[in-house]
Amino acid sequence: MNKQHDTKLKNDLLLRKKAEAFIPGGMWGHMHVKKLPYGYPQFFSKAKGSRIWDLDGNCYIDFMCGYGPNILGYKNADVDHAVNEQREKLDLGNGPSALVVDLAEKITMLVDSADWALFAKNGTDATTTCLTISRAATGKKKILVAKGSYHGSAPWCTPVATGVVEEDTSNLIFFEYNDSASLEVAEKKAGVDLAGIILTAFRHDVRRDQELPKKTFLEKAREICDKKNAVLILDDVRAGFRLNKRGSWVDYGVKPDLTAFSKAIGNGYPLSAVVGVDKLKQAASEIYVTGSFWCNATSMAASLKTLSIIEEIDVVAHIYYLGNNLRNGIHQIANNFGVEIFQSGPPQMPLILFEDDKGFSKGSKFVQYLLSKGIYFHPWHNMFLSLAHTAEDVDMTLDAVEYAMKKISLEF
Ligand SMILES: Cc1ncc(COP(=O)(O)O)c(C=O)c1O
Repeated sequence: MNKQHDTKLKNDLLLRKKAEAFIPGGMWGHMHVKKLPYGYPQFFSKAKGSRIWDLDGNCYIDFMCGYGPNILGYKNADVDHAVNEQREKLDLGNGPSALVVDLAEKITMLVDSADWALFAKNGTDATTTCLTISRAATGKKKILVAKGSYHGSAPWCTPVATGVVEEDTSNLIFFEYNDSASLEVAEKKAGVDLAGIILTAFRHDVRRDQELPKKTFLEKAREICDKKNAVLILDDVRAGFRLNKRGSWVDYGVKPDLTAFSKAIGNGYPLSAVVGVDKLKQAASEIYVTGSFWCNATSMAASLKTLSIIEEIDVVAHIYYLGNNLRNGIHQIANNFGVEIFQSGPPQMPLILFEDDKGFSKGSKFVQYLLSKGIYFHPWHNMFLSLAHTAEDVDMTLDAVEYAMKKISLEF
């Protein structure tokens, strides 16, 4: 397999060598393919709909959507048209364009627990701003965070400790996601100094099965925040608009005080948002957050169009339906070959892990075989479906899964 991939990724491998000279480590963060199984391309040249092409012209049906943002598919024509029109007028000025107000209005109309909105660029900006607002509003310091949850790459939340000092995380108290007793222990530790609780929409930590939140657990978080006059923060950066367009906890009946969005909000154009309830509006107006590019109008235009499409078309139903078909098909194929797998989380954001797979050796081989058939899966990060995926894409993927699963059943 390695030799075949070396020839398939000739340009990619050459560019990786050059990148080593100019970019620390050749690439940074989650974009570095060094942690992925051998054979993954590092660089991409184009994408359209559900397809992405690497530098060597290999085309893949993509189930990562750029790690989430492309909820309508790559290069959605309506979104790109809105962006191009706006670019002709103004992108970055001395202040925002009128679109910032339109977008704040739109997102507060769409999202249930949103009476106001402010915008930034990345998910990390949004989650960090949520912490700042919580502390400003309550005058308290401690934030409860679930162990293993990803909230971004700032020193307070990065999963890699290198370069982080104790003080960066000294006001965080950790608990187990979905474990009310553990949340209560953390609450006690915070005592009278509890500013907020931050939770992802569901448990989607990498390298482990995903878990939907227990309703009782979310209710407990709400109850603690109400009792302690603290802020309940929903980090909807990854799941936002894929589970429920009105906010990921709407079906649970639990209202967050602040919600962080990014990823799907602008179909690939850089934008994030913090939305909140009325009682936090004052605090949100008093903190100082900003960035040179936080108001660029093309991203606002992209988001306005993306959210309009999400309002008009039932994107959630589409990706749920296809994700379910994919899941059922994979389940059937694995069963036929006697391979034990566990598929977890919402079908719109699938994750497939193999039973008894220390070091992800089966999972890694599985995705390598899929890659060789033009299917881009991830071995341990949840994947994403988009409006651009079709029933035909799912069928083609299942054909490749049949091939890959057979190989796994013979090799392990
Ligand atoms: C749940 C969650 N929160 C926050 C972030 C950080 O977002 P960004 O990478 O845009 O800073 C991510 C990114 O994957 C995420 O999944």
